[in-house]
Amino acid sequence: MKIPLTFVLNNQETTLMIDPGQTLLEVLRGQGGMTSVHRSCEEGECGACTVLLDDEPVNACLVLAASVQGASVMTSEGLVKDGTPHPLMKAFTDELGIQCGFCTPGMLMNAYALIRKAGDTELTDAVIRKTLEGNLCRCTGYVNIVKSVKTAQKLKMAGEWW
Ligand code: FES
Ligand code: FES
Repeated sequence: MKIPLTFVLNNQETTLMIDPGQTLLEVLRGQGGMTSVHRSCEEGECGACTVLLDDEPVNACLVLAASVQGASVMTSEGLVKDGTPHPLMKAFTDELGIQCGFCTPGMLMNAYALIRKAGDTELTDAVIRKTLEGNLCRCTGYVNIVKSVKTAQKLKMAGEWW
């Protein structure tokens, strides 16, 4: 038996028919068509499926989709505005914080939340590394990811952000 799930997905009210046992990861990738939400360990270890749930990063593989009824969910598709990549995405590209890209959407969502919360407080390497420790990357060695987040924060402070 399917049940309706109504929630806000990337700022748009959305209703999807779901199986009660489906995870948020399965629903976002499947019925929701949000293929940036990557599926890997499915046990909360890799961070590839990170999305924002009411502005807080969560591993979508550990969330029951039915539990997000009425909530707001943001995926990295929601960062793009009128076809233009978000400044955070640009920073990751410019600073080579992306290689194969498998970890990147989840990394972006965690970084987005971190930068937003930091306000005018300049992020240190230690804080960035601690925040992103649950987002595993096999390619970059993290140095360029940390640079990307710092550059993105500078763009935000310069007003180049949405
Ligand atoms: S797929 Fe969710 S944390 Fe790895
Ligand atoms: S860029 Fe390949 S896993 Fe991070």
